[in-house]
Amino acid sequence: MTQLLDVDPAWLPDEALRAVGTRPVQVLGDGPLVDTVRHEVAAAHAKFAAEAGHSGAVSCDLLLRIADGGDAGPEGFTLERDGSRTTVAATDPAGLLHGFFHVVRLGDAAFTAAPAQTHRPALALRMLDHWDNVAVHPVMGQVERGYAGGSLFWRDGRARGDLARVRAYARLLAACGINALGVNNVNVHETEAHLLTDRIDEVAAIARELSPYGIRVHLSVSFAAPVLLGGLDTADPHDAAVRAWWREAAEHVYTHIPDFGGFVVKADSEGQPGPFAHGRSHADGANLLADALAPHGGTVHWRAFVYDHRQDWRDRTTDRARAAYDHFAPLDGRFRDNAILQVKHGPMDFQVREPVSPVIGALSRTRVAVELQATQEYTGQQRHVCALAPAWSEVLRFRPDGADGPDIGRLARGGGLVAVSNAGDDPFWTGHPLAQFNLYAFGRLAWQPDADPDALLDEWIELTFTPDRCADPARLRSGLRAVLRDSWTTYEKYTAPLGSGFMVQPGHHYGPGIDGYEYSPWGTYHFADRDGIGVDRSLATGTGYAAQYAKPWSETYETPESCPDELLLFFHHVPYGHRLHSGKTVIQHIYDTHFEGVEEVEAARRTWQSLADLVAPARHRRVAERYEEQLRGAREWRDQVNSYFLRKSGVPDAGGRRIH
Ligand code: GCU
Repeated sequence: MTQLLDVDPAWLPDEALRAVGTRPVQVLGDGPLVDTVRHEVAAAHAKFAAEAGHSGAVSCDLLLRIADGGDAGPEGFTLERDGSRTTVAATDPAGLLHGFFHVVRLGDAAFTAAPAQTHRPALALRMLDHWDNVAVHPVMGQVERGYAGGSLFWRDGRARGDLARVRAYARLLAACGINALGVNNVNVHETEAHLLTDRIDEVAAIARELSPYGIRVHLSVSFAAPVLLGGLDTADPHDAAVRAWWREAAEHVYTHIPDFGGFVVKADSEGQPGPFAHGRSHADGANLLADALAPHGGTVHWRAFVYDHRQDWRDRTTDRARAAYDHFAPLDGRFRDNAILQVKHGPMDFQVREPVSPVIGALSRTRVAVELQATQEYTGQQRHVCALAPAWSEVLRFRPDGADGPDIGRLARGGGLVAVSNAGDDPFWTGHPLAQFNLYAFGRLAWQPDADPDALLDEWIELTFTPDRCADPARLRSGLRAVLRDSWTTYEKYTAPLGSGFMVQPGHHYGPGIDGYEYSPWGTYHFADRDGIGVDRSLATGTGYAAQYAKPWSETYETPESCPDELLLFFHHVPYGHRLHSGKTVIQHIYDTHFEGVEEVEAARRTWQSLADLVAPARHRRVAERYEEQLRGAREWRDQVNSYFLRKSGVPDAGGRRIH
């Protein structure tokens, strides 16, 4: 609750609490989460004590109360204004906490203009997965794909002793609606495997900091735990001793963490152990853990990121994009009620542009959670600005069965929305201060998947930068919008074109490496030659991936003529002279977008420089530094991509610009 001096306040600066802190407030109700609300109010009052003059007031402007009945449901709340008083009511204490942060978001409007309203989360599970290792991994470091310093939870091979930062993190997460958190990497190495058993007290210590903010802890576990930790000679899900081992393990966890959320499992994926070794299916594997968790109300998150990562690049019949559907669609209906299949939003791996994974729409009898990646592995690694809310929003609005069917946001109701966290112990939480927006927007979209990303950006700007308190609010608002709003498509323009994906340096995945994965075992190819580029995933002549979609998408994606431009190279191999719907040829599109992308970064960098007098100096400096790297990186991408395709195709740029 106290603002840590050395840490950026992100979307909860003191100023954002002014409307609450300067008014008399009453909190009615009992329990730990209501106490958290009470502490929040007290802390806000303490900050504005000099200005408020409310002490000893008999009336109150804001009443936050637990009410019997009401229709807001779990985590929901109502807000009403009556004369000069605003009342937030919830039956569920977690709802009161969310209601409190809603008032913070509204600011003065909560007391002057807000109409009566009811809010409830569309998705019950809104979860962040931290890919944090306890022991520093020799290749992946402390946080796998982490671009924001070390872990918030682990240091020197143990849970951090001082968890004040974790409490502050929980507060930020609660303020954007997140209610679940996985504390360790899905790749469970040896040290981390022990968190489940003899080191559960360390997880419990973290859970105690998160739970006052309504956030439940989840743990990534190794499917081989009965062998690794229990000394059994098998991890076979049908083995009675294995089943008993998992039951006891779960029971042990719940004695330490009564509100434990459940397990996250990456099985038979990129070297992690799984049920295949025992001749069992992934439903068998998931159900084993689900059964162990069921008596305690826990859930297993079973990841669908299962594919052959030892592919022969010469083999044109294997298509990695097909893998999740091929593995999991046949298992639909075979998972327990407390098993959630956690599916990456696209069929490959968090590329800047991918179609929506067809397996999500194919699982009508399985609870599905959709996984996003806030950590910017393939989208600039938090050195480049890339606001992902518009990309995520497109995913959530996609309707697998066409216009009349449910969208992904609705289909995720069964399981929830998950993001790989982009936060670490960096003073700005996310390395790049503007990457905070990705964390914030994720929470808000998980609460309301059809929220407008532009509106979320404005909301985040108001909270984080409190423009009204600066000398030129309009310039600050428009500048921030300008640098963030289209930053995803800017990034797309100067990197891999038209849905082709990857083209990154192998291993760390930063910077251009056009053929970096072209002759590798990972199944991520673009097949560029002198005549054309792209992967034929049509049913008629390609891998058949397009047919994993229901109509109308299977038809839309089947031919280059009907396929949307931005996904053309994901679905089709076309000549460089192929004309897009935009009217341009593929090769000219590649040249043009790469020049434009760099120009857009140059413009954003200038805009950011023009905000120097309106943004806190440390924050301004950090972003300015990152813009230098982004611009260098964007130029490198432009020049390598354009040169590569000029050399392959021999087709000159119609604009006659310099290509090397
Ligand atoms: C990507 C990423 C890995 C991660 C994996 C996963 O492949 O590069 O670091 O482990 O996704 O989601 O499991």
